[in-house]
Amino acid sequence: MQRTFKEDFWWGAATSGPQSEGRFNKKHANMFDYWYEIEPTDFYDQVGPDVTSNFYNSFKEDIALMKEIGLNSVRTSIQWSRLIDDLELGTVNEDAVRFYNEVIDAFLEAEIRPVMNLHHFDLPVELYHKYGGWESKHVVDLYVKFAEKCFELFGDRVKDWFTHNEPIVVVEGEYLHQFHYPKIVDGKKAVQVAYNLNLASAKAIQAFRRMGLQNEGGRIGIILNLTPTYPASDSPEDVAAANIAELFNNRMFLDTAVHGEFPQELVDLFIKDGVLWESTPEELVIIKENTIDVLGVNFYHPNRVQAPDIAPNSVGAWLPNRYFDEYNMPGRRMNIDRGWEIYPKALYDIAINIRDNYNNIPWFVSENGMGISGEERFMNEVGVVQDEYRIDFIREHLEWVHQGIEEGSNCFGYHLWTPIDCWSWANAYKNRYGFISTNIHTQIKTIKKSGHWFKTVAQTNTVTD
Ligand code: BG6
Repeated sequence: MQRTFKEDFWWGAATSGPQSEGRFNKKHANMFDYWYEIEPTDFYDQVGPDVTSNFYNSFKEDIALMKEIGLNSVRTSIQWSRLIDDLELGTVNEDAVRFYNEVIDAFLEAEIRPVMNLHHFDLPVELYHKYGGWESKHVVDLYVKFAEKCFELFGDRVKDWFTHNEPIVVVEGEYLHQFHYPKIVDGKKAVQVAYNLNLASAKAIQAFRRMGLQNEGGRIGIILNLTPTYPASDSPEDVAAANIAELFNNRMFLDTAVHGEFPQELVDLFIKDGVLWESTPEELVIIKENTIDVLGVNFYHPNRVQAPDIAPNSVGAWLPNRYFDEYNMPGRRMNIDRGWEIYPKALYDIAINIRDNYNNIPWFVSENGMGISGEERFMNEVGVVQDEYRIDFIREHLEWVHQGIEEGSNCFGYHLWTPIDCWSWANAYKNRYGFISTNIHTQIKTIKKSGHWFKTVAQTNTVTD
């Protein structure tokens, strides 16, 4: 069967500054640069963010490869820790301005739409050590200064802007589940950080509109990793657990982004548990008035939950997951290498949810992908990775996206994570996701079978079984 998408559908891929550029000529360290300096053993094979896929030096060649595989749009991010010289004053580092200007111009010359994100887990670490990072509203205001600089410098050519990538991961990784530095467990701080990230997004959107970028064809949104929640059974306890997981993992950012309000049920729960954030009426007005134009949806896996084993009141420190436990559904299809369930239909459920409950806002799949370890084992004699598994994975997800569009959901694109194998947070190079492989020793980059396949999809706007 053939499924055809509309003419101007975005066929692309996503990366981020800290995962692709390398640390060359950066004045400030971000949270991950610093974490690697103090605890390199926390990173897979002790490989850090110093070189990554060398985009800082090889962006021209990298963009040529992206063009070769037919991408018409690519998302990356501007690193706060690279662009800004004095973090308080918001003055700029001239080398970074040159670099981002050249990158944007190279994308445009290649007829690839540059899509820019402003925060991808990469807060300058000094702001954490000095102020507690996203716990602080002063840091929110410094972030807005950085965002304004980006709009001012690059808004003439970049038309699609995003305020954060997966802000819930900052909350979970840094403040609840200890998978990102500073590995704190503090539910109350986690809730304040979630609020401040929402506020930062709304204030950046406010600045964007104050500066009039929407009048020059610009639009702005947020990128959320939506993990649709499915209860283990129809029992009222499992359904209630799934509802709270949905509120915390998805709706805490999605409702504010689209409707400008936190879900009342979530606010009531935080009040009951004595962990509600500190907010002011003025801030809540800013959140209400500055909702997104466009939504990016990162989707990797669904979330299956069941009622927790222990009663909420028997848990010590407050944590949101006192209300829900992960459920390992027997027989579910897994990507064993990454430990994530594969369930493409969830993308259709997301599409319909956005259509029915979120104003049918324009959205795109801003990340989707399959991380495979030891991918060299699938290379043929000339070094081309024969990644049929990735082709099948993308095709199945696109089929469900297409079904959602057929039923009226306003999806305008699909981006794979990632164009070129890049470094990833604590997993470093363990799992490879790209259309193009990177040899981390020689920096030789080779288009995989999936890259050649995707070119045909992009050129024909059609996915064929
Ligand atoms: C997404 C992030 O959640 O997952 C990316 O936005 C990340 O930055 C990707 O690299 C894959 O995750 P991992 O841990 O398998 O590399």
